Amino acid sequence: MNNIEDILVTRLVETYFISYTYSVVYLFTHQTTISLYLVKHILSGITRCIQFLSAFTGVFFLGGCNLDTRMSTFVTKGPVAETQYDLFMLTVWVTLGIFIAVGGAFAFAIIKFRERPNDDRPMPSQGHGNPLVEIGLIGASILLLVIIAVPTLQGIWYTHDTPEDPESFMGAWYSGEELAEEEAENPLIVKVIGYQWWWAFEYPQLGITTANEMVIPAGKVVHLELRSFDVIHSFWLPRIAGKVDLIPGRTNSMWIQAGDNFLRWKEKQGVAGPKEESPALRADYAAYLEEEIHNYYYGQCAEYCGDSHARMHFRATVVDNEEFAEWVIDERTGHGTPDGKTWDDWYADYADNPDSLTGDLNEGLKLFMGRAKCATCHVVKGNPRALGVAGPNLTNVGSRMSIAAGWLNHRIEEDGSIDLKKQYDNFYKWIKETDVVKPGNRMWKAGGGGIGELIDENGEPALLTEDEIHKLSLYLQSLK
Ligand code: CUA
Repeated sequence: MNNIEDILVTRLVETYFISYTYSVVYLFTHQTTISLYLVKHILSGITRCIQFLSAFTGVFFLGGCNLDTRMSTFVTKGPVAETQYDLFMLTVWVTLGIFIAVGGAFAFAIIKFRERPNDDRPMPSQGHGNPLVEIGLIGASILLLVIIAVPTLQGIWYTHDTPEDPESFMGAWYSGEELAEEEAENPLIVKVIGYQWWWAFEYPQLGITTANEMVIPAGKVVHLELRSFDVIHSFWLPRIAGKVDLIPGRTNSMWIQAGDNFLRWKEKQGVAGPKEESPALRADYAAYLEEEIHNYYYGQCAEYCGDSHARMHFRATVVDNEEFAEWVIDERTGHGTPDGKTWDDWYADYADNPDSLTGDLNEGLKLFMGRAKCATCHVVKGNPRALGVAGPNLTNVGSRMSIAAGWLNHRIEEDGSIDLKKQYDNFYKWIKETDVVKPGNRMWKAGGGGIGELIDENGEPALLTEDEIHKLSLYLQSLK
């Protein structure tokens, strides 16, 4: 649905500019002394056609007019996106002014000085150069550039310089344990690493790593360190902030914040000054975070990075402080074995008597560790032998609302829960047709092309069977 709206908006803008261009060309051909009867009529036909289409598209556009889409930069949910939006609008107004002034002067001249029937006005005197006009126009251009450039530079620094906000210091809001003391006066730090074509999110202060779906607290400054494993990617979370590139060999930084902090929120409410503080005001602020900010946000790699660039999405789940602390504990704890054995016992059975490990989940785990080779590239926290780091960390992958870097979704938009049938289908599809879902990815495959070749017990190249994919999907779905 969002896509259709996006397409309609794009088409409407295109149609507008094409109509404008054709109108100018039409007027121009109208006033020339050369007879352009044919061209004129073709153009007027096209113009009429376009006018009709504009009206047609306009009806659709107005009917479904909604700027509040999930990738919208017009409905901002945080100070960085808001600053970028303001800058965008400033640029729009300046360029709109130029467009109207230049287009208007052009149209005026064409209409006013066009040749009329039996026109016997003399040819106007031909001048060349007018220092006042030329210098004036140069001056106006420079002025307009400065009006755009100064806030642009300020905006770049603003995005880069993580603010020192005491309410965002970890010590002020993080209720979990085991926080190193020097971290109490730092904001939450997330290391974002771009891979072809997925995202790793590391939380160095908390000792956890997740993939493709980051979790951040509402209303708090989060400092991001952006790096790339391979080629240039770009971090873009439109409603909250964007875009900053992830460049191989260097670390870029930016900050994001979902929602305003208490001070900024108070200012917007007209309750100025840092001193106004009351439990009722705090409760209103908490309600604002809960109702307007606490949500699931869509992001996307915004720099072309190879085959599956368009499928390199990510998500940010914005939670409250308690939910964040719970999430950290879940991520740290990770997963046990399917039937509650210790991992040592499970691995002893796996080595000596694998047939004693029965049931779909045990079968799935055996495949995960063995034939399907998942553990060579994926970490599953808790499992002492699932330690691969070439692919996304799969701890709690069953709790995520999407897989394959946001390309396969199973979130029910109405209530934010997981559609379990869809989730199973997505895991199944991803394992079965990984190259269809995400061309060029490095999963193990039969016939090569990925990180290595899948083989059967005889050493022959062999795809996973339907039954094996079924069990693996069930096992992955159980990781929550
Ligand atoms: Cu990563 Cu485009």
